Amino acid sequence: MIKKIKGTNDVIEDLYIWEWVEEKFRNVAKNLGFLEIRTPIFEATELFNRSVGTDTDIVQKEMYTFEDKGGRSITLRPEGTASVMRAFVEHSLDSKGLPQKFFYIGSMFRYERPQAGRLRQFHQYGVELIGSPLPIADAMVILMATESLKAIGLSNFKLKINSTGCEKCRPRYKEALREYYKPILAKLCDDCQTRYDKNILRLLDCKRDVEYAKSAPNIIDYLCDDCKSHFEGVRRLLDTLGLEYEIDPSIVRGLDYYTRTVFEIKYPSLGAQDAILGGGRYDHLVEELGGKPTPSVGFAAGMERIMIALKAENKLPSPPIPDVYVVTVSEGQRPHALKISRELSKTFSVDVDLMGRKLKSQFKNASKEGARYVLVVGEDEIKSGTYTLKDMSNGNQMKLSLEDVMKHLEKTL
Ligand code: HAM
Repeated sequence: MIKKIKGTNDVIEDLYIWEWVEEKFRNVAKNLGFLEIRTPIFEATELFNRSVGTDTDIVQKEMYTFEDKGGRSITLRPEGTASVMRAFVEHSLDSKGLPQKFFYIGSMFRYERPQAGRLRQFHQYGVELIGSPLPIADAMVILMATESLKAIGLSNFKLKINSTGCEKCRPRYKEALREYYKPILAKLCDDCQTRYDKNILRLLDCKRDVEYAKSAPNIIDYLCDDCKSHFEGVRRLLDTLGLEYEIDPSIVRGLDYYTRTVFEIKYPSLGAQDAILGGGRYDHLVEELGGKPTPSVGFAAGMERIMIALKAENKLPSPPIPDVYVVTVSEGQRPHALKISRELSKTFSVDVDLMGRKLKSQFKNASKEGARYVLVVGEDEIKSGTYTLKDMSNGNQMKLSLEDVMKHLEKTL
């Protein structure tokens, strides 16, 4: 038997939950004026090297990179921001006016060690607000994040925000971190020791060396005046919106493009993989990719983790059931049953026996599927043009013409 690749999932019985969540997210995004964008699943490797950053875990260890038959280095996208910004620059979307607001839902690929909530092919719902440097853009994106989660009924989540400063103030902060960690370097885990030189900020979100991070210098004390007032501006807007949040200096994010605001939404009961959503401001990415300076901000949520959270909160929609199950008394009525099913399916969800089951077992099947009504198509019914419609919720039966069946269903479903 050929099995699925490690770290991938088949979505079968849960698909209706995915569709429901996606519809809710699309509604939130569209109602706030965001346009859906679909970019390719693979891109030139250089795009992720330049945007996500060559010293990040994603680029160093996790990318699905291969050479195609034309000798080009191709990578399955590990995230969506880089592709959206590549598209923004490539199609000169700034000429349409700023801001440009996009959202996407799609597969991402990272070669990580699979565990609950961590896959190698996973899905993100992401949002990118391109072109505004103002705190209101950060607040809008954070609001979209929380509104999206509330729209699917989640409530036990925690919003954590931080600022990572800018090219003016961050170097000073990194220096302070180096000073702080230098004498204790030998006590840190292997990952932290390697990150000390290349990516010192990541020492703050290490899951093993938490205690050292707690006493490390706090970036908020190192922000320049502009970054400080930007962060205060964001906080004031979040307060106005009544959003609860915690300032968490350990939120530094694992991608290099961030500047100023960063945030994550944690769902504490998810255990080790408790970040259901992460994002922040990235003011220089468009320039890195060859465009004009275009400050931007966005987030992405992990769909698989959201599914786990929904199940934990027991906030699942009801599974789809047929409105009507069409049964036949004998074989001769099957063509007629199929024609009736075609008519009914223009308005309602319909199932019809396709296995040649006996009448009794067709009823059993209808009830197993949870059908609300059963429509009986027998010889007498075809002759008289009136059909027996059984309401499975109370057992009541009615004899109705097809037109009246439709009216009755419209009224009661
Ligand atoms: P990220 O934090 O790398 O950010 O990923 C966002 C979310 O994707 C995470 O919070 C998590 O829920 C989910 N996720 C990440 N890796 C996996 C995995 N291996 N398995 C399952 N879920 C995963 C970004 O990707 C940025 N592009 C977000 C962003 C958009 N920033 C600005 N705009």
